[in-house]
Amino acid sequence: MRFDVLTLFPEMIEGACSHSIIGRAIETGVISVNTVNPRDYTLDKHKKVDDTPYGGGAGMVLMAQPYVDAYEEVSKSDNTITLMMTPQGKPFDNNMCRDLTKYDQIIILCGHYEGFDERIRDIIKPVEVSIGDFVLTGGELPALCVIDSVSRKLDGALGKIESMECDSFENGLLEYPHYTKPREYRGLEVPEVLLNGNHSLIEEYRLNQQIKRTKERRPDLYEKYKNNF
Ligand SMILES: C[S@@+](CC[C@H](N)C(=O)[O-])C[C@H]1O[C@@H](n2cnc3c(N)ncnc32)[C@H](O)[C@@H]1O
Repeated sequence: MRFDVLTLFPEMIEGACSHSIIGRAIETGVISVNTVNPRDYTLDKHKKVDDTPYGGGAGMVLMAQPYVDAYEEVSKSDNTITLMMTPQGKPFDNNMCRDLTKYDQIIILCGHYEGFDERIRDIIKPVEVSIGDFVLTGGELPALCVIDSVSRKLDGALGKIESMECDSFENGLLEYPHYTKPREYRGLEVPEVLLNGNHSLIEEYRLNQQIKRTKERRPDLYEKYKNNF
């Protein structure tokens, strides 16, 4: 899987991708992360990438030309999807994340300031994606959320000590609670059922905990689970 990120702040992407599981996935060739800076594609000698909005109003708007030219320079495979990170997009979730693993290449457009000149959308026709109903200063953190969550679903990204089998959302529920050593901490005991080695009882306990948690914390998810499973 190859990620190409169009960003005015490539260091944000490169820095975050050089650590831990994502850093290792790059080292082992499971993914590659490439950045393209639209500022390198401006025709203006001051390398201007934004300007004031027509019609007035606060803030600066990202100009179409540097973004479209930068996008057109990215070499594309036959199995590429282009995402635009925007609070106006489709909410990102585990299903969208799973769908994205089917592509060989994901191109991600990161905005900044007031956002994109509308003609960037008209010309590139990206899939617009939001990571939640709040507004960040730029698309780099949202892009990293996509890169990180998609990458960890790819074969070979997670090592033996990490696993996503029982992760929240994988079976439509939130994950069950975890415990590790010691058996007692500040008077709080690990539930007895986890200590007795009876795997079918442990599985039953964990599923019940998943259901309890999801009902309490995410009744919306629980309703969907009830209807689908
Ligand atoms: C300050 S925001 C612009 C918000 C825009 N004025 C609006 O209200 O829709 C700058 C950039 O951050 C990114 N961004 C901010 N919040 C986001 C979110 N919730 N999901 C995805 N991208 C987001 C987008 O790339 C956006 O172009």
